[in-house]
Amino acid sequence: MKHGRFERRLVLALLVAALAPIPVALWLANLLADDSVALGLNPRIEQALGQAVAVYPQLFRAKRREHGLRADLLARDPALDAPPAETRAHLEALCNASPELLRVAVSGEGLTTVARRCTGRAQGQRELALTRRSPGGRSVSFVFGMPEATFEAFREAEALSKVYRQLGQRRDEVKRAYFLAFLALLGGWALLAAGGGLWLARRTTRRILALVEATRRVSSGDLDARVEVSGQDEIADLAAAFNRMVEEIRERGERIVYLEKISSWQEIARRLAHEIKNPLTPIQLSVQQLESRYDGTDPKFRALLDQVVEIVREEVETLRRLVSEFSEFARLPNVDPEPQDLGRWVEEFVRQKTNLPEGTALEVELPERPLVVPFDRTLLRRVLVNLIENAVQASEGTGRHPRIRLAVRQENGRALLKVEDWGPGIPTERLSRIFDPYFTTKETGTGLGLAICKKIVLQHGGELSASNRSEGGACFEIRLPLALE
Ligand SMILES: Nc1ncnc2c1ncn2[C@@H]1O[C@H](COP(=O)(O)OP(=O)(O)OP(=O)(O)O)[C@@H](O)[C@H]1O
Ligand SMILES: [Mg+2]
Repeated sequence: MKHGRFERRLVLALLVAALAPIPVALWLANLLADDSVALGLNPRIEQALGQAVAVYPQLFRAKRREHGLRADLLARDPALDAPPAETRAHLEALCNASPELLRVAVSGEGLTTVARRCTGRAQGQRELALTRRSPGGRSVSFVFGMPEATFEAFREAEALSKVYRQLGQRRDEVKRAYFLAFLALLGGWALLAAGGGLWLARRTTRRILALVEATRRVSSGDLDARVEVSGQDEIADLAAAFNRMVEEIRERGERIVYLEKISSWQEIARRLAHEIKNPLTPIQLSVQQLESRYDGTDPKFRALLDQVVEIVREEVETLRRLVSEFSEFARLPNVDPEPQDLGRWVEEFVRQKTNLPEGTALEVELPERPLVVPFDRTLLRRVLVNLIENAVQASEGTGRHPRIRLAVRQENGRALLKVEDWGPGIPTERLSRIFDPYFTTKETGTGLGLAICKKIVLQHGGELSASNRSEGGACFEIRLPLALE
């Protein structure tokens, strides 16, 4: 794919803009990682955690010693050597005196074991069994309870301290992970931005390259070159303006060519009219003289003479009409435009148009608002008369009453005057020739009507085109520039 210089520069600028902050951001990320690692992995916290863990075994040892001392003390009581009933009552008293005692039992010679479970002591206790001798030699076993929750807390503290110690050992790894996460995030973002930029740049430059290519084609003479108008930005405006400009150049070129062609035809018409007109009178006079001078009595010759004179008179008359049409075509006046409302003028034209064949339906469609156009009333009238005349003549062969519709409206910044009929339409192969002077399909036509119309419209800076309506019938469109406000 071809890359424009503009595209490369744009992508480079985007990449620089996206990548430039990365070193600073990484430096900052490093600092932050250092800070947070330092805050999270503080050696004082590690030390405090270690100390907290060490406190628990001491606590357990102290408790064990305390329970041992208590067992020593309780076993020393002589009441433990009393007969069974009293001993049982004494064990009850021991339970009440030691809240951490879970069970106590006394056994000895001649004594079935007396045991006592201290009621109301909480569940979930770790037991510590100790055996002592009473003064009388009986064996006294004590079971003390230590809350299981304390052991739980110890285990948790130990696990925490271990994790913390491991984290401390992996300090560099943690920092690297922070760094990599930042790098991935920023790098990914930069690549995304550059990718987005590239896509945007390519979209823009592709359209600019299309414009450059079209401009090259136009400069090498190809006036059919157009660019696609897509989107709603300045480049789309530029593309639309470019297309309009090329269309205008094409129209102007065609206008000039047509006007040049018409003026050479006008020159020919002028000469022809001149050459034909001069001998017409002598021809007619000579034949008339021949007729009046003959005084013979041959009835056959008399009849032949009358016939010849009549033919010559008719043909001279036809030639005179032709000469007058040729001269009229040769003398087409220049336009004298005046800004005025085209809709109002068409309305007036329709009101005055009385010489249409009977039964002709003339419909009009006018714009709601005035459409101010600079035009020459007399010459535009001639255009409209010619077009309506053609429409009426075209409808004659259909066996129906002629139907014609005139429509005035604004379209694409120009005034449009449409003349449509319900006749047979124009065969496609003829469409390109009907504006040529002397092209006619009628026996008595000169073929000058449409040439005159086109010349007048072109002189107004407008366009005259012909087409066929989809429902049948011809459609002539006059496009005129609007008056400048
Ligand atoms: N409305 C129409 N429907 C069908 N064909 C048409 C229509 N208008 C013009 N044409 C065709 O275009 C030809 C040229 O028309 P143009 O007005 O230039 O000359 P003409 O009408 O033949 O002669 P003239 O205008 O001198 O009477 C016509 O002969 C006809 O074949
Ligand atoms: Mg005509």
